[in-house]
Parts: sequence; structure tokens; C-alpha cells
Amino acid sequence: MKTYLVTGGCGFIGSNFIHYMFRTYGETIRIVNVDALTYAGNPENLKDVENSPNYRFVRADICDKEAIRRVFAEEDVDVVVHFAAESHVDRSIVQPELFVQTNVLGTANMLNCAREQWNDGDGTFREGRRFVHVSTDEVYGSLPEDPDAYFYETTPYAPHSPYSASKAGSDMLVRSYMDTYRFPANITNCSNNYGPYQFPEKLIPLMINNALNGRSLPVYGDGRNVRDWLYVEDHCRAIDLVIHKAELFETYNVGGHNEKQNIEIVKTIIEVLREELPETDPRREKIGEDLITYVEDRKGHDRRYAIAPDKIHRDLGWEPKTMFREGIRKTIRWYFENMDWMERVTSGDYMKYYDAMYGGRKEI
Ligand code: NAD
Ligand code: DAU
Repeated sequence: MKTYLVTGGCGFIGSNFIHYMFRTYGETIRIVNVDALTYAGNPENLKDVENSPNYRFVRADICDKEAIRRVFAEEDVDVVVHFAAESHVDRSIVQPELFVQTNVLGTANMLNCAREQWNDGDGTFREGRRFVHVSTDEVYGSLPEDPDAYFYETTPYAPHSPYSASKAGSDMLVRSYMDTYRFPANITNCSNNYGPYQFPEKLIPLMINNALNGRSLPVYGDGRNVRDWLYVEDHCRAIDLVIHKAELFETYNVGGHNEKQNIEIVKTIIEVLREELPETDPRREKIGEDLITYVEDRKGHDRRYAIAPDKIHRDLGWEPKTMFREGIRKTIRWYFENMDWMERVTSGDYMKYYDAMYGGRKEI
């Protein structure tokens, strides 16, 4: 039985990945989920697997050397899938050091502990061991509006935010371990994900939640920044293919050729919410484009991201399966069916965060 050590499994992509892996491989795998349960980590996301004998949750910080060493000593880990990170650009602008701590030093600790445990003593690593480092397209910086410009695996790194700089730092550490120790790893650089369990600080769930609550929809700057959106399950399938089919030491860009301006996304959410809400629902009439409010731009806001997914398509046969309109509908239905989840994650500190992030933002 293969044992996976997943870090950050209580977050958005990590929890989707754990569901995906159990759906795909059932009881033939074991998953150990290491998560510190920051504001972004929610064990409720994994309620349906928490009692499975093939699943173990360990609450630990990836920066904690003793705790991570212990997990490696207790479990015969075959594959690490490293998601744990501080992931929100706006928060990184307010608290950059935390991003360096978790994303750079935390990754260094994960790499060290894996290397220590997996090393066969003669500098080699036993066959089948693999460390998959889940990273972002933001490390490549910002593209011009030219529709023919894309991020390739060979594009030089040029991060702009403390978040993307810290992820770039973590990628460089993984590269250095591969080059120096022949440490068995892969890196994936993925574009913007959306889908179930995404915390409503990110564009899509924030807009869904605000619209349902009759709050304004804060669009940064001119709303024309472009992101390349991918349904989270397609990302999970890409990681699964990397684990099972990729050559070690390779890096893969993952993206859906689905570039959209932010304002298009917000208008689509409004349309689909109106289509999905019953006519009798009093919220339906209140949801419209008049809720859109242009606000002060994000500092250092990257203009455009667009992934060229040619390599993962060619080498591993991956391509996205979920079209955007279908993915947004599925996502909105998930939030409708899980309104209690949304209420719980937006109670407590969330409104404090919201007021601090948006309260002082000027309308433009
Ligand atoms: P998220 O913020 O939803 O979840 C992060 C998880 O990591 C949470 O469960 C949190 O509790 C945990 N965590 C944070 N600090 C930790 C620490 N010190 N020790 C242990 N656990 C810790 O993030 P996400 O959106 O699911 O992103 C997961 C990974 O994928 C990140 O590495 C991110 O950079 C990358 N990524 C995200 C996207 C996206 O669109 N969301 C796209 C490409 C890549
Ligand atoms: O590209 C991959 C990255 O995508 C991941 O590495 C990050 O972890 C993830 O958070 C995401 O980063 P973005 O900054 O692109 O995502 P976010 O949802 O925060 O913002 C998407 C776009 O929407 C961006 O141009 C900023 C804009 N935006 C965002 C929010 C939260 C708004 O206009 N208003 C908002 O309130």
C-alpha cells in the first residue's frame, strides 16, 4: 500500500486532492495529512474521510523539525504532496514575513526531513520515493496583454508579490535539492483554481458570498487583469499524473487555456447565481451588476497570467475536462448546498479580516 504524506490537506486544493485520491484509489492507499490548521485550514473539509483507517490527521506546523521528523519516522512515506503554504496575495502584502516563514522555511524543513528519512545511506534514494512540490504560475511574474504571450516551464522567474516571491524561493530550494542531491522531486506550477471548499478571501467565493448577502462586489482597479482559471479537480488529476507518470526532476505548468478578465468572472457569477436561484428566492432580484464596485487596486497587481500547458499535455496526456461555465455552475451549486459551511467560515475572525482589507479601500 502506497503512503502519501499530504501537507496542507485541510485547505482548498489539499482537501479536494485527498477526496480525489480516495475516490480514485479507494483503500489501496494511505494518506497522512499534516496541517497546522491556520485560518485557511478546516478539518470539516475532510469530515467524510476522518474515520477511515486509511487516513490519519496530524496537526503540525511544517516548520516544526521535530514534529515532521516524527511523522517520517512513524510512517513509511512513499510520496509527499506538498500543498501547505500561506496562499493569499493580499495577506502577503500585509504580513510578508509570515509568507517567508511558512513557504520558504517550511518547505526547507519538509525537504530536509524527507531527505534525511529517504536517504539510503550511500547518497541514493529508494525507488518510488517522490516529493511533489505544488507551486504557482505567479512565480513567472506578469505577462503583457499580448494574447500570444504565455508562461512556459523555461520562462525566467520574476515574482512581484511577497507571496509569489516566497513561492519562487521554495521552488528554487526544490530545484537545488534535485540538482545537488538528486533528490527525487517534481514541481508543478498551476494557474488560478476554483471549486468547492475555497475560502472566501479569493475572488470567486468572495463574490458568490457577497452577492448572496447583498454586499457590494469589490473589483480591484479597472477589472481587466487576466487570470487563467482551472477547476480544482483538473488540477488534482494533473498532480496524480505527475505522481504516477512523470519522470523525476521534471517541472510542469498546469493551466486551462481559460483566460478571463476579472470583470468577466464577476459578471458570469452574477448571471449564474440568478439562473440557479429559484424565482421565489428574495435574494435573486437583489443580485445584479449594480452591486459591482470598482475599488483601489491591489499593490503591485500582476496584469495577466496565462499558462502554456503543452508539456504536461504532450508528456502525460493531461488536459482540463471541465469547461468554465460548467465549473462555475458546479461551484455555485456546491456553495448553495453548503451554506452552513460558508456561514461557519465567515463567522468569527472573517469579518474582521474583511473590514481590515476592504473597509479602508477607496472606491474609484
Ligand atoms: P489554502 O490557503 O486554501 O490552504 C493552505 C493550507 O495549508 C491550509 O490548510 C493551512 O492550514 C495549511 N498551512 C498553512 N501554513 C501551514 C504551516 N505552517 N504548517 C502546516 N500547514 C499549514 O491554499 P490552497 O489555495 O489550497 O493552495 C495550496 C497550495 O497550492 C499552495 O502551496 C499554493 O501556493 C498552491 N497553489 C494554489 C493555487 C490557487 O489558485 N489556490 C494555484 C496554484 C498553486
Ligand atoms: O495564479 C495562481 C494563484 O492564484 C495562486 O498561486 C494563489 O494562491 C491564489 O490565491 C491565486 O492568486 P490571485 O491573486 O490571482 O487570486 P485572487 O482570487 O486573490 O484574485 C484573482 C484576481 O481578482 C486578481 O486579479 C485580484 C482580483 N480581485 C481579488 C479579490 C479577492 C478583485 O478584483 N477583488 C477581490 O476582492
